This record gives sequence, C-alpha cells and structure tokens, in this order.
Amino acid sequence: MEKKPINPNFPHILHGGDYNPDQWQDRPDILREDMRLMKLANCNEMSVAIFAWQALEPEDGVFDFSFLDRAMDDIYAAGGRVILATPSAAKPAWLSKKYPEVLPVNEDGVRLSHGNRMKICFTSPVFRQKVAEVDRAIGERYAHHPALYAWHLGNEYSGQCYCPVCRRAFRDYLKEKYGTLDNLNRSIWSAFWSHTFTDWDQIDPPTPNGEGSLHALSLDWRHFCTRQTADFMRMEADSVREFNPDIPVTTNFMGFYMPLDYRELAKSLDFISDDVYPTWRADEEEDIKTAQCVSLRHDLMRSMKHAPWLLMESTPSLVNWHKFNKLKRPGVNELFGLGAVAHGADSVQYFQWRKSRGGAEKFHGAVVDHEGSENTRVFREVSHLGARLKKLDAVVGTLTRPKVAILYDWNSNWAIDFSQGFRNGDNKGVVQAAESYYAPLWNRGIDVEVISVEDDFSPYALIIAPMLYAVSAETGAKLDKYVADGGTLVGTYTLAMTDENDLCYLGGFPGAGLRKVFGIWNEEIDTLYPGESNLVVSGSGEYTAVDHCEIIHAEGAEVIAEYAGDFYAGGPAATRHSYGKGTAYYVAFRDTGEYAERLLGDILDELEIKSEFAGTLGHGVTAHSRTDGENVYVFLQNFSQSDSAASTTALWSDLETGERVTGDIALKALETRILTRPVK
Ligand code: GAL
Repeated sequence: MEKKPINPNFPHILHGGDYNPDQWQDRPDILREDMRLMKLANCNEMSVAIFAWQALEPEDGVFDFSFLDRAMDDIYAAGGRVILATPSAAKPAWLSKKYPEVLPVNEDGVRLSHGNRMKICFTSPVFRQKVAEVDRAIGERYAHHPALYAWHLGNEYSGQCYCPVCRRAFRDYLKEKYGTLDNLNRSIWSAFWSHTFTDWDQIDPPTPNGEGSLHALSLDWRHFCTRQTADFMRMEADSVREFNPDIPVTTNFMGFYMPLDYRELAKSLDFISDDVYPTWRADEEEDIKTAQCVSLRHDLMRSMKHAPWLLMESTPSLVNWHKFNKLKRPGVNELFGLGAVAHGADSVQYFQWRKSRGGAEKFHGAVVDHEGSENTRVFREVSHLGARLKKLDAVVGTLTRPKVAILYDWNSNWAIDFSQGFRNGDNKGVVQAAESYYAPLWNRGIDVEVISVEDDFSPYALIIAPMLYAVSAETGAKLDKYVADGGTLVGTYTLAMTDENDLCYLGGFPGAGLRKVFGIWNEEIDTLYPGESNLVVSGSGEYTAVDHCEIIHAEGAEVIAEYAGDFYAGGPAATRHSYGKGTAYYVAFRDTGEYAERLLGDILDELEIKSEFAGTLGHGVTAHSRTDGENVYVFLQNFSQSDSAASTTALWSDLETGERVTGDIALKALETRILTRPVK
C-alpha cells in the first residue's frame, strides 16, 4: 500500500501552530527568542500570517513583506517549515472603509460594521478581487521559499450574507437548479400556505423573520452558501497554486460544523485540516466519552480524502471561550495529540504559539506564556510530546483501511434539523446518534471510516447509518445493492423519511426502496417527554428507550427486540432482515447506549471484525491503527484517569523503545504506547 505524505519533501509529523510575528514587529528580541524556544519545544512548524492582512498590505495595493520575509527565513534557519496563510479572515480597516460592500448584511438586512474577523460576503466581486490581489502577491513571493510546507486558505470559513448581490446569486442558483418556476414550486412544495412563486424576484433567502416554512428552500440556501464558500475558497486556492502547483493547499475545518457541507469544500483541497477544542472534564467517564466523540470527528477528517490530515489547531492548555475554561490536566495534551495521530493526523498543532499581550485572545492557552520562558508546565509538556513525535517518522503518510463505516450526510442532517416534529427545540441529535454507535467500536479498538453517500460502499463489511433521514432514490438503490451483495447495514429511527429535497416518501417509511431491504414498515413515531422512557427487551437483556420510539411492523424481518411498555408493548423495537446475500438491521428507538453496545457486539462477532491490536482492552483503553501495507502501527491509549490494561495475542515491538511487547500490557492513566508489527 502506498503512503500518502501531505508534503513528501518534509516527511515528519508536524508539531507547531499559529504564530503571529506580525504582532511583535517592534520586539526583535522576542522574535529571536521564539526561534530558540521553538527548538526547545521540539517544534518544527509554524502557521503564519493567518490574520496579517494589515501588516502585509498597509494601504490598498501597497505591500510590505518585511515581517514575513524575516519569519520565513528565521523559521527555516531553525529547521522548521511554514504553513502560510492567505489573510482573508481578517480585513484591514482601510478595506471596509473604502469598499463598504465587502461587509456582509445580516438576516435583518443590516450591513455589519467593520471589526472582529470573518464577517465575509463570499459573493462580493470587490472582496474577491481584493483577496485575490493579496493572495497572489503572497503566492508570487513565497511559492518557492524552501520553508513553505503548505498553503492555509483563510481561517475557519463561515458566515452567511443577505446583501442584494447574494440574494441575486441565490435566485440564479435556484434558476440553474430548477430551470423553471413550475419545477421549483413543485420541488419545494410551495403550494403549502400559499407560497407559490410567480416570479423569481419574489424569492428571498429563508430568515427567522421571513421565510422558514419551506424546508426545501432552507436546504437550498444551505447548499447555496456552501457553494459560494467553496467557490470563494477555490478562488483563493487558484491564486496561490498558480505560482507553484506542488505546494499542497488546505483550509482549517471545525469538525461536524453544521452550516457548511465540508465534503464540497474538500473536493478543492489537497488535504484536510481540523481545529479541535474539546471540553475535557475531571470526571473520568466524561473524559472517555469526550475521547470517543473526538475520535469520531478525527475519523471524519481522515475519511473525507481517505488520507492523512493535519490537526491544525488545538490548545496546549486551555481556551478562553468555553463557559468554564478549565486547564487540560497534565498528560491530556499528549494523550489527545497522539490520539489525533492515531486517527490519521500527521501533525499536532496548537493555537497558539505565544500569548498575545492584548486583544480578545490574550488569556487563551499557548505554548509560550506571557512569562516568556521555557519554565512552565505547559511548555515542558509540549516539549515532551514533541520529542515523542520526532520518533514517529515511520507513521507519516500511512493510511487506515477500516471494515466498518458510519454514514454521515450533511444534506440529511440539515433536512432533519429543519424539520418540525419529533422533538423540537434543539438539534435532532444526528451526530449524537452517530456517537452512540461509535462508542462500542471505540471500546473494542475497531477502526472506523466516516463515509458519504457518494463513497464506494463495497470496502466495508458493516455500514451504520444513524438517523439517515433524507435519502435519494439513488442512495436507496446503492444501499439495496450493498446489502444484496452481502453487506451488513444498520439503519436507525428516522431512516429515509424524505428524499434529498426533503419531500416525504409516499407509500410507507422507510422510503427510497429501503422498506423491502429492511423488511419493515415504520407506521408511527412516538416522541417521549424528557425524563420519560420505555423499556425494550431483547432475549434476557433489558434496555432503555428515550426520546424517540417508532411503531414498526416486521414485513419479513425477524424481531430481535420488543417494546415492553406503553400501548405498543410487544411490538418490534429492533429487527434483522436477510436480504440477498446480506443483512439489514433496524433499530426503531433512541437508545441510551447499552443496546448499541449489545447489537454491535453481536454483529462484530458474527462478521469476525476485530481490532488490529488483536486482543482485549481494559476500561477506557482504545487502540487505533495506521498502516503502510508492510507494517501496522497501533496506538494503544488509556483515556481513563486510573491505571488500566490491555492484552494481546500478537507479538509487537514498541516503536519508540524497540521493546518486545506481547501478552498483558499495563497502561498508566493517560498513557499511550505505539506498537508496531509486520502485516501478516
Ligand atoms: C479557532 C480560531 C483561532 C483561535 C482559536 C481559539 O476557532 O481559528 O484563530 O481563535 O479558535 O481557540
């Protein structure tokens, strides 16, 4: 199997993060000290110029590269590499004053004032032009600088604009999609509440004080915003790629960030990056749960390109924007950082290298504190992790080939989230449902891919589709074929209720042809009040159903769990259906975790899907793997705050010490061991 290093010219795990020398231009002593400390911290990378537009272009069309020239040269001289940003995320004041149309208009029609960052109108031709100019200037100057590792486009693209230019572009998007008004009216079901449009100009973006009842139109708006953002991002990518197509391009994502379909953005990137700021708690169970949620997110990042990605930002200690900004406990940064590498990250990077003296983020954690020296707990911990990362060159570019996939679709999640019904008020819990099916896999150290409906399903022995609500006929047919060909599919409550445009399927749920695949009919949905529950019985096991109980009928499926309470007691709560050469399971209720654990345990046993670790894992311990086809690398990690253990039948060697490892392995609280052996 081929390795896929992000930049083959620097095949090392990156360790570094956001560095803002533009804030310290009058302190050459500090800039010198940064280079000394960078080496001491075992860092080899800096992400530079993310918010440096003003420093780089102090006046319209006048560029000053002095600080960046120095930073690029200094970092290179210190043995480091640079991920160089395009500075579009923070506009200089001169730009907003001279071209006010670059400021976005909010959903109440108010043009925002200059300030903070982002606040972007992705459609504005002037903004695009000014961004292209500064990007091209940077591209031209640094595209062949030996320090350059990758381009970092903007920062955490986000935001929506309702200005007249965006409104027109939205209508153009609808014209392109639907062709005729008749087709649009039919497709978005606008006869509802007399919403039929008779002129394209009558259509406005959905807003809280305007249209909100045509859910298909709300979906279109999300697709439109994704398209505008992706298009803007592509413009930025082209601006820098032009000067050296060999430098890979990325932008930093925010996990399952709801408003943008990241898979659309991913298509124009060379590699994926993510910013991850979990809330680690003191409570042990919670830390394990947090670790599971974070791992799922890492797997999404790796799966978007089935390739290594970068952990672009994390905090070495604390953030400043959680409600309670708790310190990461000693050892957590290392555990979390190596956990990202376990799930395919070829870096551990921080926001931020040095704390700023002023501004909104002065109390955000950093590798270098205001105190300024290497004599801090955080610095020592960062440096310790860096020393370990230096020993992981063998892992760079290696891949993961899981047999289990979780199907996650932004369009479907948007659609169910817009829907009124079931449980209103907060989000409908699609990611949480995915997390509850992920936990049993994490507990067993089983690698997981997070796939889209466009992915090839055939590499997976097991696909889990939690709350896959909006399903096109095409995806339905693809799932049908997957099961018929021998795959095992787990579907849950709310499966295939609408098509991809959020029109309900007629003829009984699940639609999209899946009623026959699962051998069930979902007739009614009972939403439980908070605190209320129902009992589900499966063999001798008893499980708790909360929130959502569907009253389903087995139409050929075998009933494997039944409701024990309420007027539907005795009815099926989970089913199993042999279909073609495969099997489709349906879970009709929201489970508190125990049933997912039991069901997936049975399925994994039956399919003989095992952890690459080849063994058993104690409480809070997980194991995830990467491979280059010749060797497998397993990251064995104890996320519990007490000592734990694992046991393996395979013969491993410790990648860092060379020590031979087999049988029982003791793991201290928060300990990670990286083991390797040849692939058989
Ligand atoms: C990120 C952002 C960084 C920094 C960080 C603080 O979302 O990209 O620039 O603000 O949060 O945690």
